[in-house]
Amino acid sequence: MSNSTSSRTIPDELIEEIKSRNDIVSVVGQYVRLDKRSSANLFGLCPFHHEDTPSFSVSPSKQIFYCFGCHKGGNVITFIREIEKCTWPQALKILADRVGIQLPEPDDQAYRERLERTASLQKIYLEAARYFYHSLHSPAGDVARRYLKARAISDSTAKKFGLGYALDEWDGLLLHLRRQGLDDHQLISQSGLFKRGKSDGFYDLFRNRLMFPIFDAMGKIIAFGGRVLDDSQPKYLNSPETPLYTKGRHLYGLNLAKSSQDKRLVLVEGYMDTLAMHQAGIDNAVAALGTAMTEAQANLIRKYTDQVIVGFDADAAGQNAALRSLDILTSRGLKVTVLRVPDGKDPDEFIRKHGPERFKVLIDQALPLLDFKLDVARRSCDVHGNLDILAFQDQACTILAKEDNAIVRELYAGKVSEWLHASADSVVREIERRREGSESSPAADLLHQQLAARKKPDAAAPPDTAQPASQQATREEIYLLCFLAEHPTLWGRLEQQPVPVDFSEGVMQAVASRLIEHLAAGKPVDSGGLMLWSEALVVHGRFLTDLLAKASMKLDETFAGQDPLKTMNELVRTVRLENLRRQLKETAALAQDPDRPAEAALARRKLLEINQMIQKLRSR
Ligand code: CTP
Ligand code: MN
Repeated sequence: MSNSTSSRTIPDELIEEIKSRNDIVSVVGQYVRLDKRSSANLFGLCPFHHEDTPSFSVSPSKQIFYCFGCHKGGNVITFIREIEKCTWPQALKILADRVGIQLPEPDDQAYRERLERTASLQKIYLEAARYFYHSLHSPAGDVARRYLKARAISDSTAKKFGLGYALDEWDGLLLHLRRQGLDDHQLISQSGLFKRGKSDGFYDLFRNRLMFPIFDAMGKIIAFGGRVLDDSQPKYLNSPETPLYTKGRHLYGLNLAKSSQDKRLVLVEGYMDTLAMHQAGIDNAVAALGTAMTEAQANLIRKYTDQVIVGFDADAAGQNAALRSLDILTSRGLKVTVLRVPDGKDPDEFIRKHGPERFKVLIDQALPLLDFKLDVARRSCDVHGNLDILAFQDQACTILAKEDNAIVRELYAGKVSEWLHASADSVVREIERRREGSESSPAADLLHQQLAARKKPDAAAPPDTAQPASQQATREEIYLLCFLAEHPTLWGRLEQQPVPVDFSEGVMQAVASRLIEHLAAGKPVDSGGLMLWSEALVVHGRFLTDLLAKASMKLDETFAGQDPLKTMNELVRTVRLENLRRQLKETAALAQDPDRPAEAALARRKLLEINQMIQKLRSR
């Protein structure tokens, strides 16, 4: 390895590229065995200090590592520097080699030439864009201006996106570049803007087309797309890959969308959609440009936001390529929602027909990814207006089994069970069955299992032996459920809204999840519904329905003369505190177990968290 490579000679873009092409999980994975431990992070034994229990964590979405034991942390380059005990430039070189990127040597003649060529290409593109722009506004550009008008693209939108027109000539651009002294044979050939004629000459690739310069995120022109002005084929022509442009690594419109006030990005398919949306004031729109989403594009998005709204036309939405694109986005840690544009329209057509306001409503109604997937599955299982229950339960459980968060799984199982007219419990069981073996259980789950196993079985055996023997419920939890069901209108006015994990693990959490989901969504809720959901569920060896019914009946009496809102606020606090105390006790026991060092270490970390939460609740 050469020591002479100095990072000063390496441009920032190249460092960025090296970083983005070396996924930290796979790089670290070459040195450390990583296990999936929580839904977000991976854990392994720290390579930087001696330890027996894993405290070294890697975040795929943030692309960083951190050791809770020795507190070392950093990005993929830092990791290599630390583990190979080498210099920063050497670490860069290792990573560049790993993905086949060539690094410049200080006296590398070839490299310097490459840099110069890139700069010259950029000059050519800029000059070409100027020429197309000028042509659009020349008398011969009238036809293209009329086309833009017919498509309702305003002058200022056209200007913002640098639109132009390639004249209906064979060598308009070529002659223009020649006049500017930019007709170096090799550069012309590399630019991708020309085709080679019969003799050694070139002719323009783009003729009689509306021209879209494609910018990188920094606003440099790296390629062009050209659209015909009528129905002839091919509708779009794109300049080929060049030293500046690799397909699937860029997003059209990102140079503008990155400065939007809106934190999210809206991802659409085409040039025209992007234009129409920006013109409608939706200035966070970007386009994937006809290709299916690539990991590189997902990484690019991740640099600017963690939330992306994907806009599909409804017909295309359920297709495999579309679903794969969504999975690529989520695998990069992006929170994905999906908006469907009705009746086979694309966003541009929809906005033109119904106006921007209605499109903004579609954005606001975008479905979380799981809802979207279930919806697609439900539509695909529709047989003449009837749901094919067997086919749907299979698809739905497969979809939900892939979700890492147990609470989310349970919430959605509740929904699915309603569509199926099955019990939520059986849906949950089927999902969990599919998860078994398909994935190693995350540490948090492990901890939960340990805790559950340590709970003392109840004296009175529950009538339903299929259920774990240790289902708990406090009186306050029961009361809180009753109050929530009886006063759904107070939900929005609670000081703190309860979440499922506030309740005792198992049955109570399942029922609470469902109730909370309904309340949060403003769906109708009443005490009768609550009892229906708890049917056949058992706590303390008794049917939950019975307990709820009893409490519900006595509610007015028990809390006579008290303001329900105030009572509910107190109950939420009590339930939350009680559950934290319970966790504290169980975790404390586990934290001192000398036979299980791995769990004990995790438990100690958890103890701290629980204590903090209790402090916070008490200080209110
Ligand atoms: N595309 C392409 N080459 C084609 C067709 C499509 O590169 N021959 C890309 C373009 O980036 C286009 C996107 O795929 O914007 C979506 O294609 P399509 O929906 O067919 O076109 P629109 O963007 O809707 O264009 P228009 O509204 O002008 O028909
Ligand atoms: Mn279109």
